[in-house]
Amino acid sequence: MEKVKIALLGFGNVGQGVWKILNTNKREIMINCGYEVEVGKILVRDKNKPRAVEVPDSIVTTDINDILSDKDIKIVVELMGGSEPSKEYILSSLKAKKHVVTANKLLLATVGDELISTADAEGVQFYYEASVGGGIPVIREINESLTANKIESIVGIINGTTNYILTKMSQESMGFEEALKEAQAKGYAEADPTSDVEAYDSVYKLAIMASLAFSTKVDSSSIYREGICKIDSIDIDYAKKFGYVIKLLAIGKEIDNELELRVHPTMISKNHPIANINDSFNAIFIKGNAVGDLLLSGRGAGDLPTGSAVVGDIISIIRNKADLRSIGEIKSNLPLKKVKDFNEATSRYYIRLQVADIAGVLGEIAAVFGQYDVSILSVNQEVIDKDSVSLVFITHSAKEGNVSNSMKVIESLDHVNQIASIIRIEEF
Ligand code: NAP
Ligand code: HSE
Repeated sequence: MEKVKIALLGFGNVGQGVWKILNTNKREIMINCGYEVEVGKILVRDKNKPRAVEVPDSIVTTDINDILSDKDIKIVVELMGGSEPSKEYILSSLKAKKHVVTANKLLLATVGDELISTADAEGVQFYYEASVGGGIPVIREINESLTANKIESIVGIINGTTNYILTKMSQESMGFEEALKEAQAKGYAEADPTSDVEAYDSVYKLAIMASLAFSTKVDSSSIYREGICKIDSIDIDYAKKFGYVIKLLAIGKEIDNELELRVHPTMISKNHPIANINDSFNAIFIKGNAVGDLLLSGRGAGDLPTGSAVVGDIISIIRNKADLRSIGEIKSNLPLKKVKDFNEATSRYYIRLQVADIAGVLGEIAAVFGQYDVSILSVNQEVIDKDSVSLVFITHSAKEGNVSNSMKVIESLDHVNQIASIIRIEEF
């Protein structure tokens, strides 16, 4: 059996997952692509670092030139993460006429068009299925299976770490920090988990999917972003009481040629299928004008699920050797679509305030909501201590701008001690 040599840039969670799959599923891979896939070189930062997976010393290097100059290496798999030197190494690999696979959503979302156009110019392939949804084949779905559709919306849970944290907080009353530590130990989190918990990772993934689904270039800085750090166990308990579950949702919609793009914690009905997507699982709902509603779900992070997508890309490249196309061109000449002003977006809202327990406070707050056209569906009051109460409002659908303006006024009221929490409620 002929061999195809590849190089791994990075041998952390995903790199080791790829190694394990290449060894465990050697036979299946040979049958599926007609070649044996051999790891010729592995680039790491620290050769002496102890690793759970043992590899021959002779293939481990800290010098990218060992890989770039090796003519036998046909495919470079970037699994280091971060922007530099990953970007430089990918570009150098493409220019050395090597095909590239990456799981790096930060790079795809920020400089994806440059990487793809370089691959096209060099006549090599560039694949990035693992950059969104871990083991879920969502990039291929959008790029290939759904190309007959005008895609109307993409809504989903696209970060495994935050879904793991929210699941543990909700189902086991675990604290945020402990749940994050567990997610890190399981290999789900980014090297800097701020990217997960502050929702940058979900923003990058939404930018990649939205660019492909809505055939435009999406600047990730145009996506509204709010992470899960402020979610309190009190909000989780209220959500349960009202029949909701809190999830970090990424929402992308095209309405009248304008895009609505946002990532934020969201209350959704406990009966919605997404409410039951737990732990590191991701779920992505796609609505196409021909196919209708489609749900893709699976492990969104972790060594083997992510490795599955990476090795699938390697196999595709080997199978396609006569086809020099990069998957899912994020073309720079596509028409730019306007991203809707977030203040115009509408949602229902859960708003929790701490206020002084004094006659007339509720009326004052309700009057402000009224002035800004924010209609209240329900109010719930609970005593916190002898001087203060917790007021929880659920609103009807209201404009983001109106809610935020009303909150500015409410915050300044004398008897309002704290705006403790604001969480959007979505119905699908
Ligand atoms: P990781 O565990 O932190 O591993 C990173 C690896 O890259 C390490 O082996 C590290 O070397 C190496 N590395 C980092 N900087 C380097 C440099 N300048 N030169 C040489 N080697 C360098 O990361 P990971 O979780 O595997 O994630 C890798 C990529 O996959 C990231 O882009 C991430 O966003 C993406 N991804 C991860 C998951 C997941 O579930 N973890 C899922 C989907 C996508 P040392 O070992 O010597 O330090
Ligand atoms: N840190 C990411 C997550 C890895 O938790 O979803 C998968 O992209």
